[in-house]
Amino acid sequence: MGLTPLQISRLITIIPDIVFGSLMISRLAFYISFLGSYEKVHAALKRSYYFLNQDVERVVKPNITFLQQYGLTDCDIGKLFQLAPRMIILEPERVKEIVSCAEKIGIPRDSLMFKHALASIYNISPGRVNSRSNLLMKTLGCSEAEVGMAVRRFPYILNSTEDRLTRSVDFLVRKVGLEPNYIVHRPSLLGYSMTRRLVPRHFVLETLKAKGLMKKDKDFYAVVTKSEKAFHKMFLDPYKASVPGLTDAYVAACAGQVPPSVLP
Ligand SMILES: *[C@@H]1O[C@H](CO)[C@@H](O)[C@H](O)[C@H]1NC(C)=O
Ligand SMILES: *[C@@H]1O[C@H](CO)[C@@H](O)[C@H](O)[C@H]1NC(C)=O
Repeated sequence: MGLTPLQISRLITIIPDIVFGSLMISRLAFYISFLGSYEKVHAALKRSYYFLNQDVERVVKPNITFLQQYGLTDCDIGKLFQLAPRMIILEPERVKEIVSCAEKIGIPRDSLMFKHALASIYNISPGRVNSRSNLLMKTLGCSEAEVGMAVRRFPYILNSTEDRLTRSVDFLVRKVGLEPNYIVHRPSLLGYSMTRRLVPRHFVLETLKAKGLMKKDKDFYAVVTKSEKAFHKMFLDPYKASVPGLTDAYVAACAGQVPPSVLP
């Protein structure tokens, strides 16, 4: 099937039994060709490998045809499959329920976010969408219409637990000093890990500010969304000599170590 030894060992780490199951292996071949690469199948396997127990001809293909009726292309279905593998093999009634829930929160079938909304709603279950919206309204102090807009931009905010959401918003508002309204308009901020992304980047900005190396406040969203490489290039590499230890402290923070508020 063209797998490398490394890919095979990663596969066996997830499903040790696969070495005894020729049926599973032949199903795996179907998913590799459907998604286009082993890596994409691996992303799905990490979430669930239930689909390898399902008959491809009898169960999976009819499900794919069923999803196509909602305007999803093979490419959309492949993406959905990586985000929520169980959605590909769901009873039609449950699929209909998830689709109508997405439409109810204002995400039409022809929008680019549709597949992401389906994955997100599947993950939290349609019955919990209302309570999650209310939680967002409460935490961010915004109206129902604003929450609707935020969800349309970034459906995964529905997927945050109360605890996680409260902690992220609290950090962004109290430590970073952002307005709740700023967050509502950039909901993907809430999709980043607080310990591995938001805290380390804020730490670097604060250190540079404290040392007088950054004159103007940077737009926090623009800083958070930068790739790792671009962030190093803009905020770490130029200060190697003037702030020794900054890069190391940043790397340690990204690995989960709590950084000081600024470097001494
Ligand atoms: C999709 O798969 C499930 C099995 O998990 C099955 O019950 C359902 O009938 C399938 N859907 C279609 C449209 O065949
Ligand atoms: C949603 O959250 C669940 C756990 O609450 C997690 O397993 C799942 O990967 C999340 N889905 C996405 C697409 O972020």
